[in-house]
Amino acid sequence: MTISRRSFLAATGAASVAAAGTGLLTACSGTAQSSTGADGAPGSLEVFSWWTAGGEKDALMSLVDDFHRSNPNISFVNRAVTGGAGDAAKKLLAQRLAAKNPPDTFQAQAGAMVGDYITAGQLEDLTFLYRQHGWDKSFNQQVLKLIQRDGKYYSVPVDIHHINVLWSNTPICRRLGISSAPKDIPEFLGNLHTVQKAGLIPLAVSRDPGQEWQVKHIMETVLVGTLKADGWAALWRGGGDWNSAAVTRALQYFHQVMAFAPGTGGAMSWDQVSAQVGTGKAAYQIMGDWTEASFTVTLGLQPHTEYDWAPTPGTQGVFLFASDCFTLPVGARDRDATIAWLTECGSQSGQDAFTTVKGAIPPRADVGADERTLFDPYLQWSLDEWKQNTVAGSLTHGVVASGAWNAAVDAAVTAYLGDSDVNRLQQGLVAAARQYAV
Ligand code: GAL
Repeated sequence: MTISRRSFLAATGAASVAAAGTGLLTACSGTAQSSTGADGAPGSLEVFSWWTAGGEKDALMSLVDDFHRSNPNISFVNRAVTGGAGDAAKKLLAQRLAAKNPPDTFQAQAGAMVGDYITAGQLEDLTFLYRQHGWDKSFNQQVLKLIQRDGKYYSVPVDIHHINVLWSNTPICRRLGISSAPKDIPEFLGNLHTVQKAGLIPLAVSRDPGQEWQVKHIMETVLVGTLKADGWAALWRGGGDWNSAAVTRALQYFHQVMAFAPGTGGAMSWDQVSAQVGTGKAAYQIMGDWTEASFTVTLGLQPHTEYDWAPTPGTQGVFLFASDCFTLPVGARDRDATIAWLTECGSQSGQDAFTTVKGAIPPRADVGADERTLFDPYLQWSLDEWKQNTVAGSLTHGVVASGAWNAAVDAAVTAYLGDSDVNRLQQGLVAAARQYAV
């Protein structure tokens, strides 16, 4: 069974989300008679993620509700750690993995991030599940490539997120006569200037050092918008030229865009930043599509008339993406419960229950016409873009660079937030690539 974001919240919202906050949800719904454990004993499943904000936590609960329909005897232990893009969660997880005390399953991102865990020998091979359920054929091949090593599969993707999305406040754009879909950075800069003159926040973001990933997210979309998909991909191959004039030009654009991002509001999470756009304090935000729930659910806004979306300037035809996955860590305490969870994550009903609430699309290759109707207008657009666009991997969200490389980029971005020195930023990125490119 699948449900839309609105009906999920109407049906279960307050109760499930409140229960999640207590950290422990015991199975309480569902009609199927399955359980876990070779002996059929009730199981317990510790799920580690960073889904605590906005639609993230609602989506996780929607997935858990669907899971409990066929696994009523497995209690769900929510180990979500607050912090957008997993900054805090990843650090805590690293400690647990080093102490050989893994959760039963943890959130990871397809690509370099999953690769880090494979290299460290922290994940079990899940090829048997792929064979059993035919996922090696039914999942999107581009995503599959990112969770494989030596022909073996190491995690189960549950979504595809769209990273290069420009969100806007429609009434502000209309009133000021500016487009919600500027075609390139120069047009965008003109629009930002118009908003600034009107006394509003042009581009909403938190500039707090603890939220530097929001700024890195903007930076990567400007790099893609300037270098295009091929130029972006080339940066992540060994020998990618971070010193090039093209990168300099892109970072200059980034610098100009950031001049219109005052960071008003301090250390705001991504959904609090979205609220600045949704409530008419700011005109634009560059953020992944997990934030769509902030507009639709949290603020109850209508698509197109009250908020709008478009590819970030210059990225038309490119789908910059990330894909959240779940894993079977080596040493997981309740392996059977984890396998039941991963089976749910790979299922159509699990992915629909999750993605329709999260603001994401399923990682399966084909979404049928009936299934498509579960998705709201933004997500239907995203489904089409995924099919038609050139796909590119995200930096901030784990696809193209390892954790160590990302940390070095974080340091360069944090320094930039302190001194606004864009030349130093580029040198920091050059040094990071020199040290970590593979
Ligand atoms: C991303 C993740 C999304 C969303 C976002 C904000 O890295 O892929 O699922 O949670 O962070 O926290």
